Amino acid sequence: MKTFLPISSILSPEYEHQEISLRGWIYRERGSGNVKFVVLRDSTEIIQCVIDKEAVGEENFKTADKLHLEASLELTGIIKKEPRAPTGYELHVKNFQVIGPCDNFPIAKDFSPEFLLDNRHLWLRSRKMTAVLKIRHTVFGAIHDYFREQGFYEYQSPIFQPAAAEGGSTLFEVNYFGKPLYLAQTWQLYAEPAIFSLEKIYTIAPSFRAEKSKTSRHLTEYWHAEMEMAWCHFTDIQIHGEALLKDIIKTVLEKNAKELELLKRDISKLRPAATKSFPRITYDEALKLLKEKNGIELPWGEDLRTVEEDELMKHFDTPVIVTHYPKKVKAFYMKEDEKNSEVVLGCDFLAPEGYGEIIGGSQREEVLEKVEQRLREQGEDPAKYQFYLDTRRYGSVPHGGFGMGVERVISWLCGLDNIKDAIPFPRTMVRFTP
Ligand code: 4AD
Ligand code: MG
Repeated sequence: MKTFLPISSILSPEYEHQEISLRGWIYRERGSGNVKFVVLRDSTEIIQCVIDKEAVGEENFKTADKLHLEASLELTGIIKKEPRAPTGYELHVKNFQVIGPCDNFPIAKDFSPEFLLDNRHLWLRSRKMTAVLKIRHTVFGAIHDYFREQGFYEYQSPIFQPAAAEGGSTLFEVNYFGKPLYLAQTWQLYAEPAIFSLEKIYTIAPSFRAEKSKTSRHLTEYWHAEMEMAWCHFTDIQIHGEALLKDIIKTVLEKNAKELELLKRDISKLRPAATKSFPRITYDEALKLLKEKNGIELPWGEDLRTVEEDELMKHFDTPVIVTHYPKKVKAFYMKEDEKNSEVVLGCDFLAPEGYGEIIGGSQREEVLEKVEQRLREQGEDPAKYQFYLDTRRYGSVPHGGFGMGVERVISWLCGLDNIKDAIPFPRTMVRFTP
């Protein structure tokens, strides 16, 4: 049995002049009479392979000459240093085998965003998507590591749910054997009951939002990293959110320098978030800043929209934690501030560079009557929430949590133009294939 080495592992002086075998796909090719140059790609790197007519023989060279983009190959040859080759080394091929031929790979000339989305199953092979997917892998791993190291249990909630948690306007209704059910917008209503058992819990799971807005930061199906903890206060939530984000950024900077470079990400824009502490400002202070520094007057009580968030974030190079939002723009479960019943102990983490809200969290309202009242005010029927309200009936404790949009974070770290590139097969109102 032949041993095949990952391309990245052989790009070093110790392999020079050695005979080795590689396998992968053709990333680029060009030919000139007696020599065919094939840039081979595997999941780790690329390398130029030189197929010389004299070395492989006339018949084999004819085969090599007809090779096209994305054909898969196994090749054996000698590694030589070549500063002009894309990764500094070349494979001088002795023999090769075509494993899967490929004619007319569809992605060759048209690189318009819609065309690439129509061909997402093929575009996943691009170096850009490969780099994003590797960073995505690091982000998911860092989230698990953070929470597990902090003593949180991983816990799973149902996706089919009978009631709304984040407002009816973005609910996806499902025909569940003739009865209406909804796809989860959050794990929250099913996480709160579990803190009475496990105290500190987290998950990474899909959430669904029937977002009608076509923006660069909304998906209808996204991955949601959520945490919930008992005995916790408003500041604890902010401390965990900040520490989690710092851990993610540091891990990505450490493990994915190559991918960030390939994506041409300016990492000097990410470093402040890894080291500086995140400013905490109240909603009132945000309005004041917007008025004084951006000339934007937002009437008190209105939610910050994308435009206001982006304007505000022009003054910061790290995420900012905005707290104490007006009660009426936030979810029914957020705790009223004891000092001012018009605002809630909720916080949004806004990312710099226009990447918007990456975390939303709050202290939870403990008073049963207040939760019921808020449900009614928001047009919901408390009768549908009885299981949830039991969390306030039987041994209630101060608690809270947050949710992080994983693709929003990936989008920011990778410097993507659109959140769609942060997930393998994006779903939006108008994009649901392939
Ligand atoms: O602010 P949201 O709606 O908060 C909740 O769902 C809470 N129940 C979380 C909790 O306390 N456990 O959503 C949380 C985060 C947002 O800050 C945003 O990053 C992301 O989820 N998000 C989306 N990401 C992509 N596409 C969408 N349509 C998103 N909607 C929210
Ligand atoms: Mg939110």
